[in-house]
Amino acid sequence: MKRSLLRVFLVLATISEIPWAINGSSVCKQSRSRAFRPHSVTITEFGAVGDGVTLNTKAFHNAIFYLHSFADKGGAQLFVPAGRWLTGSFSLISHLTLWLDEGAVILGSKASNDWPLIAPLPSYGRGRELPGRRHQSLIYGYNLTDVVITGDNGTIDGQGSVWWHWFRNLTLNYTRPHLVEFINSTGVVISSLTFLNSPFWTIHPVYCSQVHVHNLTILAPLDSPNTDGIDPDSSNDVCIEDCYIRTGDDLISIKSGWDEYGIAYARPSSNIIIRRLAGETQTSAGVALGSEMSGGISEVHVEGLQLVNSKSAIRIKTAPGRGGYIRNIYISDVIMSNVKIAIRFTGQYGDHPDENYDPNALPTIDRISLKDIIGKNISVAGLMEGIEGDNFLNICLSNITFSVTSDPPWNCSYIQGYSNLVFPESCELLRESIPEDSSVCYSSNHLRPESSDGTRLVSTMIKLRAMYRGEFWRK
Ligand SMILES: *[C@@H]1O[C@H](CO)[C@@H](O)[C@H](O)[C@H]1NC(C)=O
Ligand SMILES: *[C@@H]1O[C@H](CO)[C@@H](O)[C@H](O)[C@H]1NC(C)=O
Ligand SMILES: *[C@@H]1O[C@H](CO)[C@@H](O)[C@H](O)[C@H]1NC(C)=O
Ligand SMILES: *[C@@H]1O[C@H](CO)[C@@H](O)[C@H](O)[C@H]1NC(C)=O
Ligand SMILES: *[C@@H]1O[C@H](CO)[C@@H](O)[C@H](O)[C@H]1NC(C)=O
Ligand SMILES: *[C@@H]1O[C@H](CO)[C@@H](O)[C@H](O)[C@H]1NC(C)=O
Ligand SMILES: *[C@@H]1O[C@H](CO)[C@@H](O)[C@H](O)[C@H]1NC(C)=O
Ligand SMILES: *[C@@H]1O[C@H](CO)[C@@H](O)[C@H](O)[C@H]1NC(C)=O
Ligand SMILES: *[C@@H]1O[C@H](CO)[C@@H](O)[C@H](O)[C@H]1NC(C)=O
Repeated sequence: MKRSLLRVFLVLATISEIPWAINGSSVCKQSRSRAFRPHSVTITEFGAVGDGVTLNTKAFHNAIFYLHSFADKGGAQLFVPAGRWLTGSFSLISHLTLWLDEGAVILGSKASNDWPLIAPLPSYGRGRELPGRRHQSLIYGYNLTDVVITGDNGTIDGQGSVWWHWFRNLTLNYTRPHLVEFINSTGVVISSLTFLNSPFWTIHPVYCSQVHVHNLTILAPLDSPNTDGIDPDSSNDVCIEDCYIRTGDDLISIKSGWDEYGIAYARPSSNIIIRRLAGETQTSAGVALGSEMSGGISEVHVEGLQLVNSKSAIRIKTAPGRGGYIRNIYISDVIMSNVKIAIRFTGQYGDHPDENYDPNALPTIDRISLKDIIGKNISVAGLMEGIEGDNFLNICLSNITFSVTSDPPWNCSYIQGYSNLVFPESCELLRESIPEDSSVCYSSNHLRPESSDGTRLVSTMIKLRAMYRGEFWRK
């Protein structure tokens, strides 16, 4: 009785009169605008067995097929109760809430044929790892509107170790699947859950708009291959907040297609807000832009990043052949410790889909502002390499303090920009003071969420740090 009251409360808590969010920062509020679902079914009504052994793919398919008929009646909820629900890949529908209750664990099948093959993305021209098709994500959405994956800290566990093994021993036949992928969808909310052990990138919204990802824990072993946390790709109006991510690759990587395929598809990532992100990655970065950026990346506001024991905090990856642009990026309030290369720009990342890329398609990197950053036990403050004949422009560093162990602390090439209050003193190429003319350095004031306030930022960081102090991830 108590539990079901709690459940009702939690469902009601997602209701509100606030209309659909449109543009920029208002997307950070859209979870509150998700409609109440008047209809709800439980996965067990469709024959699912939560013993961790029975394969429930059919039950998920049947439940979701049944819920189609409620799409035009306010939508429906699929309730997953406590239990271990083994399944292959399944697809969501519009106006659906997938709710994972406390103790509910959706487990990805360890058989590769439970993850069907689908077409490569047009902006990649092929699977990201291997030519041809790719495996479909465990939870998949195509052409959807108004879809929510949430709950009471239930878990979605990809059981990716088999895939990492196939990757390492070169026995994959097709590109590995994501844990969750939405393609060409609008109004996507993913919140208040734990995601574990993705075979490949964990959450991948591509060609999407109005995406709100918040209050997630995403974990995978620190040495698991390419287990990025969240990768917004050719998507706009995306808000990611209050997440703890500890995985084997970038915590968040913003992308927009790959070389000639991304240039031709020409769908940028823009209006992206990331705030209050904490985590750890031994191989990659906290927030990365690229390397696939051929459709362009712009209007990005990052505020509040806390990183420990990591390779890099902020990373730009690109290469001749990518074309596209990364411009109007603002990153502030970063705290880090034990980080090897705090800020890293790589202009010669290489890694092309095939031999048909145009080496003269040079990326434009312009107006990148990094502000209010503090780091202790940093090996290299900045390794910032632009492209010869294609300088990265208007790189603005302000109020940055690092305790650095290497000398020289900064190493820059083919970049141009400015700095104020940077310690240790920035590299020669960025030593000019920031001009009074504010249009030179990017400031994302129009994207800044209204509720931005330092107190909330600090308290979330302290909470996240306390929650994950010490060895959270075992095994
Ligand atoms: C809001 O979004 C619409 C449609 O995507 C776009 O045309 C408009 O320029 C946006 N406005 C702002 C202020 O970003
Ligand atoms: C998605 O929408 C596009 C264009 O609107 C359409 O061509 C395509 O067939 C749809 N795909 C699916 C799987 O619904
Ligand atoms: C975050 O998620 C937890 C469960 O995972 C929930 O108890 C809590 O209320 C959520 N917080 C917010 C602000 O949504
Ligand atoms: C959610 O579950 C994870 C893993 O089971 C746990 O570490 C975390 O503390 C939980 N979060 C909340 C808010 O209960
Ligand atoms: C590769 O890994 C898979 C999964 O663990 C295993 O079944 C297979 O025998 C391995 N193949 C080789 C050549 O090691
Ligand atoms: C790759 O294909 C071979 C031959 O069809 C098959 O035996 C193997 O299981 C496949 N590997 C994976 C990871 O699906
Ligand atoms: C400094 O960071 C490195 C990793 O970059 C770590 O190995 C070392 O233990 C740290 N030193 C201290 C004093 O924490
Ligand atoms: C510099 O950044 C720190 C946080 O890293 C902040 O506390 C301080 O107020 C900032 N100083 C200026 C002059 O903006
Ligand atoms: C700067 O970085 C480049 C490229 O990584 C490296 O070859 C060079 O030795 C570095 N210079 C210094 C002075 O550390």
